[in-house]
Amino acid sequence: MATMTHQPVQRIVLIGARGAGKTTVARLIAERLDWSWIDADGYLESKVQRTIREIFEQEGEPSFRMLEALALKELLVPEKRVVATGGGVVLDPTNRARLRAAGLVVWLTADAATLWQRLQADRATPLQRPALTNRGGLAEIEELLAAREPLYRECANCIVDTSSLPPNAVADRIVSMVGSC
Ligand code: S3P
Repeated sequence: MATMTHQPVQRIVLIGARGAGKTTVARLIAERLDWSWIDADGYLESKVQRTIREIFEQEGEPSFRMLEALALKELLVPEKRVVATGGGVVLDPTNRARLRAAGLVVWLTADAATLWQRLQADRATPLQRPALTNRGGLAEIEELLAAREPLYRECANCIVDTSSLPPNAVADRIVSMVGSC
């Protein structure tokens, strides 16, 4: 895992798979700290006036990844901000270096079955979430987790398992880390 330099935390960045709760928890942390918060996918969608799913369908994943990298660079400039990233942001080595330099990076984890349940329960999933492999469903989540876990680990300063913790408790735990990481 990444270690923190001993400077005051200026940003909190949430990484982790789809369904880990990054967006909800980012908002809750920001409320507690009186910081701003932003969702990287939402930022990108409003910037290019298309959904992530449309970008994938019209231009393909490599083009989405370029736009995502550009958006991340912009998003990590302001201070006192909580950033919820997209689940695949860690695939790019430059993004990983940026994340590590940005502040406190928290990896929200959950087991594959829990992630799958949450994605199925989220009505936005079919509209907003493109398929990322040919497998779909639980098998896709398991495959992506296996490939990406080392990358999340490389960037993270702390890990919070959200499988059996409600978002408020996850946010409380992260806020309590700000002084101690
Ligand atoms: C992706 C996760 C999504 C979004 C895009 C690709 C991924 O973000 O960036 O669909 O590769 O895991 P969320 O994790 O916010 O759903």
